[in-house]
Amino acid sequence: MSASGDVVDRAGTGPTAGTAGPAAPAQGPVLEVEGLTISLRTARGLRRAVDGISFSIDRAEILGIAGESGSGKTLTALSVLGLLPGGARTGGSVRFQGRELLTLNRRQLREVRGKQVALVSQDPSTALHPLLRVEVQMTEHVRAHLGFTHDQARARAVEMLEAVRIPDPEAALAAHPHQFSGGMRQRIAIAMALACEPALILADEPTTALDVTVQAGILRLLDRLRRERGVSVMIITHDLGVLSSVADRICVLYGGRMAEYGRTGDVLGAPRHPYTQGLMRSLPGASEEGAPMVPIQGSPPSLDDMPAGCAFHPRCEHARERCRTVVPSLRTLPGGRGLACDVDPFGQADEGVAGMERP
Ligand SMILES: Nc1ncnc2c1ncn2[C@@H]1O[C@H](COP(=O)(O)OP(=O)(O)OP(=O)(O)O)[C@@H](O)[C@H]1O
Ligand code: SF4
Ligand SMILES: [Mg+2]
Repeated sequence: MSASGDVVDRAGTGPTAGTAGPAAPAQGPVLEVEGLTISLRTARGLRRAVDGISFSIDRAEILGIAGESGSGKTLTALSVLGLLPGGARTGGSVRFQGRELLTLNRRQLREVRGKQVALVSQDPSTALHPLLRVEVQMTEHVRAHLGFTHDQARARAVEMLEAVRIPDPEAALAAHPHQFSGGMRQRIAIAMALACEPALILADEPTTALDVTVQAGILRLLDRLRRERGVSVMIITHDLGVLSSVADRICVLYGGRMAEYGRTGDVLGAPRHPYTQGLMRSLPGASEEGAPMVPIQGSPPSLDDMPAGCAFHPRCEHARERCRTVVPSLRTLPGGRGLACDVDPFGQADEGVAGMERP
């Protein structure tokens, strides 16, 4: 079901013995997000763009955040880096290695950014300056964050380029970004993100701009890096197929709220939320052979026009009257799975609900 058709080995999730790992605690989640809310000012006033999102990421774990455009994926990641748009108001908690990030000042956030938490975005050119040689960019990044000498920084740059399988790291250091293909540029951007040995990589649509074969290579790379270096990864995507091959757990967002959450096999193997079902049915190849894929009717809501009740109700074929007015709570199901649908049309009749705890 992977977008690439590739299946990546998820058996070994721990770091390989003897490899250098990032400075993450041996136990406990690397990132804990609890009841996160983000409000933004729009032409019509303050609007809740992210509404009560909770999840955690363990060491060497890959968490996938999925959802259509505007569901709050990028804002969630930016809140970890303290890079939210000006005037944004936050609530809840974002703890990195036990430290609350939402209350840090700019200087403290700069220390976290790049060094302990790194961002890889859809377009590697946002991380790579087109006019500067790769060596200048990679060594300056490491020197600025770790205080390395030039020689130390250069050695680190070569090591990271090797780690992301750039064929000739020395030649790559001497080149400019435009001399590489899109896939190679993304590998270099990931090498830069890794250079300070962050404990957490936030990868926002890291493969969207790449063709399917290159996409599979980048996903395998992220999977290998977490196994060999113990790095934790948050992969953001609108494509559940991308997550099927690498994510340990998945969090599906809709209209800034969590729709469904759980282990990848559980969520993709038997989606419970009508929205997750819809995303699955709209994947190429998801339907029976020869049958057309079925897109979800309608469009995701805009911030200024968020439906009352369950935000998905205008598009949901299972909606009942109460869905128009009552916001469904996120309930924890057996197995730690989270579901925010009061109707639960794909639920098992004999499966109890364990209340409204955080998943
Ligand atoms: N600076 C901003 N000012 C006003 N609204 C914003 C701003 N940034 C994001 N939004 C709105 O907040 C909501 C969530 O945005 P976000 O970028 O997190 O979505 P996303 O899930 O990453 O979508 P995409 O898949 O398109 O990247 C959207 O409705 C978006 O329009
Ligand atoms: S709460 Fe109602 S509208 Fe929302 S997903 Fe469930 S059935 Fe559909
Ligand atoms: Mg986004």
